[in-house]
Parts: sequence; C-alpha cells; structure tokens
Amino acid sequence: MSVLDVKDEYVGQADVGVVGLATMGANLCLNILDKGFKLAVYNRTTATSEKFVSDNRAKYGDKLTGAANFADFAKLLKKPRRAMILVVAGPITDGVIQSLSDVFEKDDIIVDTGNAHFKDQTDRANMLEAKGLRFLGMGVSGGAEGARKGPAFFPGGTLSIWDEVKEIVEAASAKAIDGRPCVTMCGSGGAGSCVKMYHNAGEYAILQLWGEVYAAMRGAGMDGDQIQKELTRWKSLGDLDSYMLDITIEVAGHKNAESPSGFLVDVTGDAIGSKGTGLWSVQVAMEVGCPCPSLAAAVVSRQMSMEHIQRRLNHAIIGGETSKASEHARKAEAAFHEEFCRDLYWAAYLAIVASYAQMFEAIRAVDREYKLNIVGNLPRIISTFRAGCILQGSMLQPMTEAFEKNPNIPNLMCAFGKQIGEGMPGFRATCGRLVLSGESMPVLQASLCYMVTMSQNIILAGQAVSLQRDVFGRHGFKKIRDGQLTEESYNEEWPEMAP
Ligand code: 3PG
Repeated sequence: MSVLDVKDEYVGQADVGVVGLATMGANLCLNILDKGFKLAVYNRTTATSEKFVSDNRAKYGDKLTGAANFADFAKLLKKPRRAMILVVAGPITDGVIQSLSDVFEKDDIIVDTGNAHFKDQTDRANMLEAKGLRFLGMGVSGGAEGARKGPAFFPGGTLSIWDEVKEIVEAASAKAIDGRPCVTMCGSGGAGSCVKMYHNAGEYAILQLWGEVYAAMRGAGMDGDQIQKELTRWKSLGDLDSYMLDITIEVAGHKNAESPSGFLVDVTGDAIGSKGTGLWSVQVAMEVGCPCPSLAAAVVSRQMSMEHIQRRLNHAIIGGETSKASEHARKAEAAFHEEFCRDLYWAAYLAIVASYAQMFEAIRAVDREYKLNIVGNLPRIISTFRAGCILQGSMLQPMTEAFEKNPNIPNLMCAFGKQIGEGMPGFRATCGRLVLSGESMPVLQASLCYMVTMSQNIILAGQAVSLQRDVFGRHGFKKIRDGQLTEESYNEEWPEMAP
C-alpha cells in the first residue's frame, strides 16, 4: 500500500495538478490547498511525492492526492485537466510537456511556470494546440516564500484558456494594497514569459544598483552595521521601501563567525550566477532597437563578476594602476558623510526610476515587433508588480498610477519630473564622486546616462557622429528644420582625408 495508490474515489476529482515538488512547487501546492482546491501532485522521484502526500494528508485529507506516474496523475485530474509545471526550465520542462501530452486528452491544459524565453513559449503553445491540447506560459515571481504566501503570476496565451485556470491562480496570488490580485492576463503567445523576462531584467538592474550603493558606502568607510542603519533610514522615508532594499539591508549587516570582519559578505564569493532571463531580455531589446543601458549594464556586471580568474591576473599586473585615484578620493568621502549619503540616496532613487523606465519601454518595443498584445494590458501588469514578486515596493504604486492615468505616457521618467528635479544634482555628484574614488558602478552610471540622454532635445555627440559617417562613407545625414528631422538625407562636400 502506498499513499500514491489511485483509489476509485480519487479519480477525476482534483481541480488542478502540479508537476514538480522542489521548494517552489511544494510551496505553491500548499498555497493552493490552503485556498480550498483539490490538488494532485507528481514528482519524478516517487519518494518525494510519497513524503509530500504523507506529510500533508493529516491537514488536507483527500483534497491532496499524488501519483507515481503520469498516467495515474492524469487519472486524478478533473476534465478538462489542468496541470502546472514547476520543474527546471529548458529540456526538463520539455520532457514533462511531452509526458503530459502523451496522457492528456483534447482540451486539457498545460501551464508552464518556468523562466522560459517568450519565443519558446509561443512554439510550445503552437505544438500543443496542433495536438488538440491547450497551453499557457505563466511566469511566477516571489521566490520560495512568495510561492507559499502568494506570488505574482504573469500568464500569457489564449484568453479562453486563462478563463479556465484564472480562479485557482487568482486565489493563490498575492494581493496588492487595494486588494487586487497580483496576476492579470499579459497578452497572447509568450506574453507572460516576456513580461517575466523583463521583470527579471529589472530585478537584475535594481539588485546590482543596490550592490553598487553598498560598495559606495563601503568605499566611503562605512561598515556593515553603519550601512544597515543608513539603509534602514532610507527605507523609513517610504519611497524606496521595497523587498530588494530589505534583502540588501539584511545582506549588508549579516554576521558570520568565520569572517574576520564579522560580516558574511566579506567571505562571500563575488561571481554572480544567472539563469538567462536578463541576458535574453537585453538581447531582444537590442534587436528591436530599444535602448536599455541599465539592464545591459546589470547583465555585463554579472559577466565581469564571473571573470574572476582573469580579474585576479589583471589585478596582479595593473591593479595598482587602475585603483590609483581611489585612496585620495576615499579619504575625502568620509569627511562629508551626510552629504555623501544624501546624494547617494538620490542616485539610487533615480537609477531605480531609470531602470523601470527601460524595462517598460523594452516591453513596449518587443510587443510592437512580436505582436504579443501586451501594451493594452501594461497598466494592469505594472499593478501586479506591487506585491508578491521580487520587484514589490512602494514605488510601484506611483508607477501604476502613472500608467493608469496615461497609458501612452512617453516614458515612465515623465511621471517623476519633480523627483528628478530634486535628485539630479545628487545623482550627478554621486556618479562624479564614485568615478574619482575608483568604485565601479555600471548600473548607476548607465542610469544617469539614460536619464540624461533620453531627455535631451539634441545629442551633440549624435550630430558629430552623423557627420563623421558622411565624411568617410558618404552615408548621408538628416538636418534639423523647424525642430524636426528632415525626410531627405544630405551629403556634404568634404576635403579628401585618407584613413
Ligand atoms: C528567477 O526568476 O529565478 C530569479 O529571480 C532570477 O534568476 P537568476 O538571477 O538566477 O537569473
């Protein structure tokens, strides 16, 4: 006798099935059970399913069933069947989709929650629909804790399919401050995974910029306890209050007995791993011509961090040279601590605005190219970032309001004119100071560049480069007449200049 034996009374009873009982899967199962749904589980390792069902039977009774193979799993589900996949993204997910499609029947629904490339989700939907099955790609954000208490979900695909899983997903999702569930249909095809990709790209940028704030404070002589205290003060001011600031506060001051300084961060490896969503986001954004320097800088920062062997070799040879200016500048920092922290606060604030602006612009641009029907849903999608997910934080509220008030707002930055006016001098001072002190800060700098360049009427360097191209390649250049670029292109007579 096993708890996974399929009794007659279990057949066709489960409202939904979950494949994959690692931390995220198991936590999402408990969350769904808590909302009163009947659930069937399957895991590749049968012992894991047995343990999960045995451990939780006392609490949930026959509402929780499990299967030792895909055929039994299919038997347990109410028709049309609904199954969510929470296994490793990529080939393992493809294997599960194949196994489910072998035992599922017409109109059954498969929901993949993995971090997939949106193009792959569109392909999966087409492949399964050709077999008479139905598919949704649905990103999930919130980590293990979010899955248990309520994450944000980003579904995409066919609306009628969403209508059939909506009740369960909405019940399991986080609820924002106004009670709205942190889930909305993002659009068609791979729209949900596209939104999750850019959610993650924003996450990369903001995590990195908090890392840069931490490094700047260390560079100015602050220790973990002082950093924790200062960042906690920033949190109390309200606007920057967020999950990513919370985890930075924790990380900055977290103690460890093995560490000579007493802080865990000082004995932590600096190579930042990644699973691909940030890189894909930047690649696609660049392909469709959407500038997103902060998102790109975050990806590049992770790549530079991974080059630890080369960095060590370089350091031995040129490290003394590249850090030359730093000692002098760092001593100066400590002298005006309060001003340094105030300026750094504004640098963080505005870099966050710039990063979100790029994230939303990239979603718009990708949507224009790939016709995922996201743009009309964008205000609602932004509202779902307000709770449950890694991005959650106070600033998502004014961002939601800005897009709800004007879905065609030229750029998110336009909703933050007052803060830009107040914080720009501090943002510039911070970037100037950190350049002098030698601390590398790719996202802060890229964000300043974005904010300044994307609000310039005329880019002087752009005028110069346009003419350079005409000099050597006769590529032609536009002129500005009455404040507009001319339709026609011009060539100038240039003196002969041999390269
Ligand atoms: C996730 O969605 O799993 C993470 O938040 C982002 O993943 P990564 O940092 O490992 O790429």
